[in-house]
Amino acid sequence: MCSSNTSYTMKTLVLLFILIGLTDSRIYSASIFGNAESFNVLDYGAAADGITDDSQALLNAWNAACSSSAGSAEVVIPPNMIFFLSPVILRGPCNSENIYFVISGTLVSPGSPSTWTGQDSSQWLAFRNVTGLIVDGSGTIDGQGQRWWDQSCRYHPEMDGCTRLAPTALKFIFCTQSSISNMYFANSAQTHILIERCNGFKVDNVMIQSPGNSPNTDGIHIQASQYVDITNSKISSGDDCISIGDYSSNVQIYNIQCGPGHGISIGSLGKHGNSAQVENIHVSNAFFHGTTNGARIKTWQVGRGYVRDVIFENLEFNSVKNPIIIDQNYCDVRGACKEMVTGVQVSNVVYQNIVGTSSSDIAINLNCSISVPCTDITMQFIQLTPATSGRKVKAYCRNANGQEYGIEPGPCLS
Ligand SMILES: *[C@@H]1O[C@H](CO)[C@@H](O)[C@H](O)[C@H]1NC(C)=O
Ligand SMILES: *[C@@H]1O[C@H](CO)[C@@H](O)[C@H](O)[C@H]1NC(C)=O
Repeated sequence: MCSSNTSYTMKTLVLLFILIGLTDSRIYSASIFGNAESFNVLDYGAAADGITDDSQALLNAWNAACSSSAGSAEVVIPPNMIFFLSPVILRGPCNSENIYFVISGTLVSPGSPSTWTGQDSSQWLAFRNVTGLIVDGSGTIDGQGQRWWDQSCRYHPEMDGCTRLAPTALKFIFCTQSSISNMYFANSAQTHILIERCNGFKVDNVMIQSPGNSPNTDGIHIQASQYVDITNSKISSGDDCISIGDYSSNVQIYNIQCGPGHGISIGSLGKHGNSAQVENIHVSNAFFHGTTNGARIKTWQVGRGYVRDVIFENLEFNSVKNPIIIDQNYCDVRGACKEMVTGVQVSNVVYQNIVGTSSSDIAINLNCSISVPCTDITMQFIQLTPATSGRKVKAYCRNANGQEYGIEPGPCLS
């Protein structure tokens, strides 16, 4: 009796769940994320032919999703289609607690710099002032950067009308508790992903690819943001794989493959005499191949403020020019910046469990300023050997104080 009663109750419950499930899926049939109310760009007029400008359709879908009163809303960019987008800013704040932005198709930029005439040429796609934004999908963001690279002052300083500023592919500005995952980025005109003035931001499993000789194509740049995690990502670019700018703190970078590129950099900090405030930066489990730098801290000699409480650990280098480097007299034009009495204070930096090969003679280069020396540096369990057999590598430390244990090449610190 008792058992058949229980089984009857169970059946009723199961039936009830199925019914609830059916009702749900009938209301929100296209939703990938549970109960989110769904807004497909195709329903907002996107042509998805790779030629017609779909930015207004995207903006309309975004605005509808953003003003939805459902607990969560979702913008859908469907797979196997190409969406040509001129520069567009998707603004919050939104009504829903969470807003999903599912990119399964390919987004392509206009490519032609003339599209930006009279517009802000620092950005292509941007999210601004959104909380609970979740960008996800297996789609592609293609910045079509070639024509910008061809006129970049970085590589063509003699060219009449060369440009210094080119569009970042995707900016997140003032975003809170947000994330991006599983996306593929290619050939941005300049930086691929910028996280600026965000609080709580996760980047997971993204792949970024642009040529090693493309100018200023940083993979991910973090600026003035707190609590940022970047994990499980593979970055090839013509500038820093990941860079961390002034006023950033509590940044975790874990399981990254970098190369080609300029490494993982804190800086450049203190440009134009800014007061840097960078702390609690943890870089671990990173593999660098053929990069110009590995673990780098670079600060401008005119800068002020500090970078402190930094850990670089479990790193592997394969033929990296400057595997471990601090440059407190950073300058973008070689020899143009004189050493000054100012400087960004570098302290409590730990380098540990680091192996691999250096393609230059100086595998460890802690080149600190005479007026603001680097203090409380720890280096332990480091083994760096020459990338070319028969050569030798050395460690160079200047105005760098702290302790070291088990480092090769060494000794270095004073
Ligand atoms: C963000 O949205 C809030 C609420 O509307 C507004 O007060 C604030 O100025 C916005 N901030 C930015 C930077 O756009
Ligand atoms: C150290 O920095 C000074 C000042 O910028 C520079 O002149 C020198 O070449 C650097 N040394 C090394 C070994 O990098």
